[in-house]
Amino acid sequence: MHLNAKMDKSSCVFAPNRRLEGKVAIITGGASGIGATAVQAFIENGAKVVIADIQDPEGEEISTNLGENAHYVHCDVSKEDDVKNLIDVTISKFGHLDIMYNNAGIYDTMIKTIMDTEIDDLERKIAVNLIGSFLGSKYAAKTMVPRRKGCILFTTSCCTQVAGIASHTYVASKYGIVGMCKNLAVELGLHGIRVNCISPFAILSNTKLNNEIGAIYEGMMGAIGNLKGVNHNKEDVANAAVFLASDEAKYLSGHNLVIDGGFSVVNPSFLKIMEQYQ
Ligand SMILES: NC(=O)c1ccc[n+]([C@@H]2O[C@H](COP(=O)([O-])OP(=O)(O)OC[C@H]3O[C@@H](n4cnc5c(N)ncnc54)[C@H](O)[C@@H]3O)[C@@H](O)[C@H]2O)c1
Repeated sequence: MHLNAKMDKSSCVFAPNRRLEGKVAIITGGASGIGATAVQAFIENGAKVVIADIQDPEGEEISTNLGENAHYVHCDVSKEDDVKNLIDVTISKFGHLDIMYNNAGIYDTMIKTIMDTEIDDLERKIAVNLIGSFLGSKYAAKTMVPRRKGCILFTTSCCTQVAGIASHTYVASKYGIVGMCKNLAVELGLHGIRVNCISPFAILSNTKLNNEIGAIYEGMMGAIGNLKGVNHNKEDVANAAVFLASDEAKYLSGHNLVIDGGFSVVNPSFLKIMEQYQ
């Protein structure tokens, strides 16, 4: 930088841990897992956060523990009236909405063949993962467009980059979100609103699993993963969400930020075969 250059108003130095000062966020699926970790990170960074979920006792407890900057609202993201109510409650409680983080999602514990997959499984994934994200974006946009600013985020998955690692129904729902995210980035960019996805690899987010099963899972994912010596965890996603929601990412829109330690760019069969010839 030129030493005598005047500081551009848009180039700011950000205080560590206060990257979301004054911003109001909604985090769906905020009562557990990645969502709950994001709620914590957003509050630590100065945001006011509305936690939206269907797990009422867990959501209420998190909100109570975090104090006056957090508020819990029961919201089934697949239901239009619940999502409308979520936005209304947020505006009446905190005055406006800056960040809509569509994170709530359902997934599989087992991958079935297409022949064994029932249509209701697809319908459930589409209802919660895709329609939930659609409704969250629609009602967030209604309040963000008049203010000509805002940020919409989605938790998608690195199954949008590598085939064969999740069920057909889950993959269909998450690909749908990535496509919608890019389309929204075009329409809402005209109104100063940024729209991005975050695609994690596999994270042990269920704290109800016992330690032994948890350790086996982490060992397995560590072996499959590309980046060795670190565990992939909920904080990786929460930190990415804080960054994308902050003004540090003010010119980032239409991205699918893949957090997978390089897993999706590696061709493991190449390395395996090469090893045999060394
Ligand atoms: N954990 C992973 O390995 C992983 C990897 C890639 C993507 N993801 C995605 O991350 C997101 C969070 O998942 P997680 O791992 O934290 O799982 P999780 O089960 O701990 O959290 C999901 C949350 O969504 C809530 N939820 C489910 N259905 C809902 C509905 N209809 N309305 C409102 N809330 C609802 C649940 O109650 C829960 O609190 C999901 O979208 C998931 O698909 C997770």
